[in-house]
Amino acid sequence: MVKSSVHFEFEVFDSIDQLATADKELLLSARKVTEKAYAPYSEFLVGAVAKLSNGEMVSGTNQENASYPVGICAERVLLASAAMLHPNVPVSTMAIAYHNLKGVSDKPVSPCGMCRQSLHEYEERTKQPMRLILSGMNGKVFIIENAGLLLPLSFGNADLKG
Ligand code: THU
Repeated sequence: MVKSSVHFEFEVFDSIDQLATADKELLLSARKVTEKAYAPYSEFLVGAVAKLSNGEMVSGTNQENASYPVGICAERVLLASAAMLHPNVPVSTMAIAYHNLKGVSDKPVSPCGMCRQSLHEYEERTKQPMRLILSGMNGKVFIIENAGLLLPLSFGNADLKG
């Protein structure tokens, strides 16, 4: 038996003002696009904006439903649009923000488990890491160098092939 461990590092910024200009603009867009979320049930409005490797921008917001499990997260709305509009083009950076109408919005959002699976597969299918910029409407910002870091010991396409 050997013990193994997983460790990853990410950057923490006290505010959006410490980001490089391109990252700052992307995060501002993600904060702005939260306005387009359809989240009447949770009142947790999530916005995601991505810059693709060809320079195109794609956005997504969460889309809820009276039948709760039908709802879909902002990140997966974005990835579905990107895959359809720009097939096989890697996502270089995705900024994700939220506006919590029921509470505070000053801590970085963290993608849910289902979205982590989706984000990581997108990296694998386009063969390029996807940087994530995570924040709320204000406060700290996390930058993670690739989405796969959020999903250690992940299950993927290669496992199915054996
Ligand atoms: N949600 C997202 O869109 N992305 C996340 O990263 C976390 C959660 C949505 C799903 C649901 O509409 C609402 O936020 C509350 O969970």
